[in-house]
Amino acid sequence: TVMPAIQFEAPASAFAETVTVVKHYTDRLFMFRMTRPASFRFRSGEFVMIGLPGEKPVWRAYSIACPSWDEEIEFFSIKVPDGPLTSELSKIRPGDTVWMKKKPTGTLVLDALLPGRRLYLLSTGTGIAPFASLIREPETYEKFDQVILCHTCREVAELKYGFEITEAAKSDELVGEEAGVKLVHYPSATREPFERAGRITDLLRDGRLAAELGVPLLNVGEDRVMICGSMAMLQDCKALCEGAGLEEGANSKPGHFVIERAFVG
Ligand code: A2P
Repeated sequence: TVMPAIQFEAPASAFAETVTVVKHYTDRLFMFRMTRPASFRFRSGEFVMIGLPGEKPVWRAYSIACPSWDEEIEFFSIKVPDGPLTSELSKIRPGDTVWMKKKPTGTLVLDALLPGRRLYLLSTGTGIAPFASLIREPETYEKFDQVILCHTCREVAELKYGFEITEAAKSDELVGEEAGVKLVHYPSATREPFERAGRITDLLRDGRLAAELGVPLLNVGEDRVMICGSMAMLQDCKALCEGAGLEEGANSKPGHFVIERAFVG
C-alpha cells in the first residue's frame, strides 16, 4: 500500500504555491518558477523568504529573479549537498508545493539609488538573481541610459543563466527595444578558460572594463551601482565604490550604490 502524502498547511504568514518549471544548470545551480499569488506585490530587485512544507520549515531569503510585472515567480538557487533547505529544494519538480512568506523586502531597488546615467549591476554566482528581475523592469531603462550586467563565476557553465536572462530581456515584448540598446552583459570566469578572465573587481579597477566597453572609469557624477554576491565580494566592491566617491544608499535615504548578500545555503 502507498502511504498518502502528509499535507501540511502553510502558516498564515506564507503563501503555498505550485512549481511550474525547474531547470538545472550545473550540479550546484538551478532555477525554478512557480505560480504567483494574486495579492503578492513586490518591487523588482527585492527578496522574500521561502521554505518547503513541513512541521518545522527552514526559511531562507531568496531574491526574486523575475520583474514585478511577471505572471509567475522565478528563483535562481544554489544547491548545497547538506544545506538544510537547498538539499531538499533542489529535488523539487513541477506540481510540488513551495511556501513563500507574504512580505518581500530588500535594498537592491531603484528607489534606493539617486539619479544617474549608468547603472552597474555587479554579481558573482547566484548574486545575479535580483538583476534577472531588474533587467526586465521598464523603470530601469526609464532611469538609466546604460545598464551593465556584470557576472563573475568560477566556471563557464555557471554563467549560462546570465546569457539566458540577457537574451530574454532583449527579446522581451515590454523592455526588449530599450534593453537592446542599453543593456550590456559583461560575464567573466575565474577558474576556467573563457573569453574574459578575472574577477569583476579587478576588471573594474585596472580599467579593462572601461576600455572594453568604452566607458569612463567608475565615477560619482554618472555611475550608480548595485552589488550582490558573497560577503568578501560585497566588501571589495563596496571599497571600490567608496574609493570612487560613491556613497551607500538605502530605501529611506537614496545613495550612489546599494549592496545585498546573495543567498548562501
Ligand atoms: P575566484 O575564483 O578568484 O575566487 P565563490 O564561489 O567563492 O563565491 O566565488 C564566485 C566567484 O566570485 C568566483 O569567480 C570568485 O573568483 C569570485 N570572487 C570571490 N571572492 C571575490 C571578491 N572578494 N571579489 C570579487 N570576486 C570574488
